[in-house]
Amino acid sequence: MYVANQISKVLGTSVTNIEDFKDKDHVLISTEFIGIVAPTYFYGLPTIVTEFISKIQLKDGCKPYMFVVLTCGLATGNAIRACAKLMQDKGIKLSAQYSVVMPDNYVILYHIGSDEEIKDKLEKADIEIDRIIGNIRNRAIGDMNVHRGMFPALMTPILYSMYKGGRKTNKFYVTEVCIGCGLCEKICPAKAIKITDEKPIWVKDQCILCLGCLHRCPVEAIQYSKKTEKKGRYFNPNVKI
Ligand SMILES: Cc1cc2nc3c(=O)[nH]c(=O)nc-3n(C[C@H](O)[C@H](O)[C@H](O)COP(=O)(O)O)c2cc1C
Ligand code: SF4
Ligand code: SF4
Repeated sequence: MYVANQISKVLGTSVTNIEDFKDKDHVLISTEFIGIVAPTYFYGLPTIVTEFISKIQLKDGCKPYMFVVLTCGLATGNAIRACAKLMQDKGIKLSAQYSVVMPDNYVILYHIGSDEEIKDKLEKADIEIDRIIGNIRNRAIGDMNVHRGMFPALMTPILYSMYKGGRKTNKFYVTEVCIGCGLCEKICPAKAIKITDEKPIWVKDQCILCLGCLHRCPVEAIQYSKKTEKKGRYFNPNVKI
């Protein structure tokens, strides 16, 4: 959201949350300029993003400058290539591809890092975002993703199949420090959480695994198995919900 907001602020465009299109059958694009900004999950795209792309239709005669910016903790693998393929199947040409390294919020595996490390990553990200905005402003064409990582062709199908078959909610649990504020239910893009007796219950078997509930909980009451204990929590300080 921060990256999308920065791009729109400088270029004077608007930002729409793709959650707003969840109940639509199709999304008609008639603008000359459109970008998708999304996080990388397991060297691929979050399920909500692939669902959105599958709904895109171009208005007759519309040939937009279409770009994708993926944020990642380290590397995107071939996630953008998969995105380009999804669009190509619908006759839409991706004009430009970019990526930005941000703090890695996958605390099921990694520690979030110290405040200094996060500050350092965000400062470096701002430099990358400025460069990307310059390229978008000039309608640059091509693959400008500089964070593809090691062996992307080999690793992408292996990692992404783990995400597609995983995303299980049965590993979520809430501790006694929960104050029943309801924020987790409110922000869940998969509508997978219901507050019952002032505590969250995961009501779907699978979710997007965005970890938004876990990171945004004001009292850090949400865990995803023991693996997320003592790994820290993070959300972008410039994004208000
Ligand atoms: C389920 C999940 C999977 C992730 N997979 C990757 C990955 O394959 N490569 C990577 O560099 N970062 C990965 N990350 C880190 C995120 O891409 C990165 O922190 C991103 O900036 C998060 O954006 P957000 O704050 O909009 O959720 C993953 C994060 C999550 C929650
Ligand atoms: S956000 Fe945290 S404190 Fe609020 S209801 Fe959910 S788990 Fe409880
Ligand atoms: S990780 Fe939490 S907020 Fe994100 S989709 Fe799953 S249940 Fe919802």
